[in-house]
Amino acid sequence: MRLSMVVLASVACAGLAPAADTPTFNRDIAPILYKNCSNCHRPGEVAPFALLTYQDAAKRAKQIAQITDARVMPPWKATPGYGDFLDVRRLTDRQLATIRDWAAHGAPEGDGQKPVPPKFPDGWLAGQPDQVFKMTAAYSVPAEGADQFRCFVIPLNAIEDEYVKKVEFRPGNAKIVHHAILFLDTSGEARRRETAPGQGYSCVGGPGLDITGSLGGWAPGAMPSVARDGVAHTIKKGSDLILQIHYHLDGKPEQDQSTVGLTFSKEPPTKGLTLMVLGNEKIDIPAGDSHYVVKASAVLPMDAEASAIFPHAHYLCKDMKVDAHLPDGSVIPMIWIKDWDFNWQGSYRYASPVKLPKDTRLDMQYVYDNSAANPHNPSNPPKEVKFGEETTNEMAFAFVSFTLDSPDEVSRFRSGIRAEFIADMLANGVDAEALGPERAAQLKMLLNAFDRNHNGKLDPEERPALVQFMIKRDERPKQ
Ligand code: HEC
Repeated sequence: MRLSMVVLASVACAGLAPAADTPTFNRDIAPILYKNCSNCHRPGEVAPFALLTYQDAAKRAKQIAQITDARVMPPWKATPGYGDFLDVRRLTDRQLATIRDWAAHGAPEGDGQKPVPPKFPDGWLAGQPDQVFKMTAAYSVPAEGADQFRCFVIPLNAIEDEYVKKVEFRPGNAKIVHHAILFLDTSGEARRRETAPGQGYSCVGGPGLDITGSLGGWAPGAMPSVARDGVAHTIKKGSDLILQIHYHLDGKPEQDQSTVGLTFSKEPPTKGLTLMVLGNEKIDIPAGDSHYVVKASAVLPMDAEASAIFPHAHYLCKDMKVDAHLPDGSVIPMIWIKDWDFNWQGSYRYASPVKLPKDTRLDMQYVYDNSAANPHNPSNPPKEVKFGEETTNEMAFAFVSFTLDSPDEVSRFRSGIRAEFIADMLANGVDAEALGPERAAQLKMLLNAFDRNHNGKLDPEERPALVQFMIKRDERPKQ
């Protein structure tokens, strides 16, 4: 009796015209879904089902209400108020209420005109690139098994240095390509690591070698990266592109051959572009520890503008925060992710460049949960986790892209960062055990030269001399 009444009630709800203020699909819901969901939720794209028609949405109305309320969808990890980013994917509280209300009233379609689903460009989002680079062979993944992380090598065949204005990654098979990171290698090492021509090599955390640059990253729904005026990525002649792809298997054997479109600038950039790696490899998380904190800091050796930030950790990380502490004592929040999800990593680009003066200190603090209560924990029962490349290891990095006043400043910026980093280490003396004897001996020599009061550590007033010395040393032409 009860059950049939419920059924009758919901049939009645769906059949009758809704009250005027009840949200309907045609008038209220379709515009929200078309703007925020359909670019991923359509055939051939990454999401498991389409959200284009009334039927698509109505049969999942309750689930859509729940998952949007929990802010799981649309996927966007940056907490509002901590960094002002481009292409923000976040529903307003009002939109959430509209969806909730619609689902609670039996998901009415409404009358009036049926909404027309948006047309998605099936070509390049940022226009036809100058040159298109495709993975040199298709790569096959099986129907089932663990996710795969693979680095593919694409020769760029540049016979002189080239400057890239626009980078657009296009997944060859959007059903399985979960994200991609683009690195540059001039050493030829990546080529040597390929297991077979065009088949790349297994790589989890990073490409596993010293890279010479990066062309950014891609995750589903990401917009192509277009450099601001005066800025460009430099591709050194002879560089290979390393395409690191994360494949999520989908129950069927699949193939992928992804492409990257590059648009070049004839003029060399007038500004410098560089990547700062903020990170800490000292990670050793006891099994069961639900609040393990990893910190890192870096000091800017010159004025710089942050243009993007790419936080990176593996499955155990839950909370990531990066702040900039300016010399005048003010603090600029750079990003805060409160529910990190390894599956939704990507680059967050600032709406306008964040100007940071010399001596600004960037602090990152990441929190890891290695307890059994963490649903993302790859080990059950939990086990001790250390820094490393495997998904069952952990990492703590934030890659911050900076523009500098001129391209000539890039190398000085890099050696400055290195010098500040070493100065930070020496502020606590030399920890020979952590460093190993050879490196400890080198650092001890350096410390002895600048530790003028001989107290065994580098004091704040001794610091500038060491930093200047190290920058000058890097500037001397190498024989
Ligand atoms: C950037 C791509 C993207 C956008 C934008 C997006 N989704 Fe999704 N959605 C996915 C993917 C991929 C999945 C599969 C689960 C996963 O990988 O997290 C998914 C899963 C879902 C699910 C099923 C969740 C589950 O637990 O099985 C629902 C419901 C959903 N999305 C609704 C929405 C709605 C509603 C919007 C817009 C408000 C939206 N999505 C926007 C990519 C997207």
